[in-house]
Amino acid sequence: MYSKFQLTKKFLHYYLASSNGKGHGIHSPFVFDFIKNVLNDSKTYSCYKPIEQKRKDLLRNFTIIEVEDFGAGSAVIKTNKRVIANMATTSLKPKKYAQLLCRMVNYYSPKTIVELGTSFGITSTYLASALSPSTVFTCEGSDAIAAVAKQNFDDLKFKNIHITIGDFNKTLSPLLTRLKTVNFAFVDGNHLKKPTITYFTELLKYSNVNTILIFDDIHWSIEMEEAWAVIKQHPTVTLTLDLFFLGIVFFNTDFNHKQHFTIRF
Ligand SMILES: C[S@@+](CC[C@H](N)C(=O)[O-])C[C@H]1O[C@@H](n2cnc3c(N)ncnc32)[C@H](O)[C@@H]1O
Repeated sequence: MYSKFQLTKKFLHYYLASSNGKGHGIHSPFVFDFIKNVLNDSKTYSCYKPIEQKRKDLLRNFTIIEVEDFGAGSAVIKTNKRVIANMATTSLKPKKYAQLLCRMVNYYSPKTIVELGTSFGITSTYLASALSPSTVFTCEGSDAIAAVAKQNFDDLKFKNIHITIGDFNKTLSPLLTRLKTVNFAFVDGNHLKKPTITYFTELLKYSNVNTILIFDDIHWSIEMEEAWAVIKQHPTVTLTLDLFFLGIVFFNTDFNHKQHFTIRF
């Protein structure tokens, strides 16, 4: 994992080198459409308020839970006893990115959505808030964390989220076999090179030309940057968007050549 200083330097570099986020100079109509109608859509959707209220509740929840350590993302705190509020501060995707996921599922209408890394279910609920019918299959390793997420799904009255508990290494493959097709996936757990590439390869087997895969924290560490480079280079990948804290992968075959964009967000 990069130090705060290294990450800030990288972010500054991204910020200066990226396309300006207004779509100027972007010659791909697909990407221009994404920037205009999804990235820069500033409408307030009705799901935003209750989910952000739930996030606030988590940030004020000082209950201690017993948590199994899963993946690189948990490297900050070593003990197995953790305070919900502290975990909510460090591990949940900020509102800006979580709401972008929501706008993406709204715009592209994927039916079957897979999430690796439920935590307390904040991004799961955003992913499950699309206007068109969809089902979110979210995966979490820790029983205690999953119990909090389940309670949140019930409180917010979500019926289209199914949670699978257990190590991704054991749960992902059987889940995908059962689903047969994945239309959209958000990979937000175990930020290491090898597992990230494994999740990509597994998801790829169940993807089609319309599938969208999103990887969290692609610049978080050297390993994640290497994993992102491998994913970008894969022959089936036709378009990638680097938003620094998220990497978005498309397989759409309408584009005549592979393209990678770094977009300011
Ligand atoms: C960064 S959090 C997910 C945050 C969530 N997507 C959000 O923003 O609302 C990552 C979660 O993945 C889980 N996780 C990490 N590695 C895992 C693994 N190998 N198997 C199962 N769960 C894992 C952790 O327990 C943690 O709760």
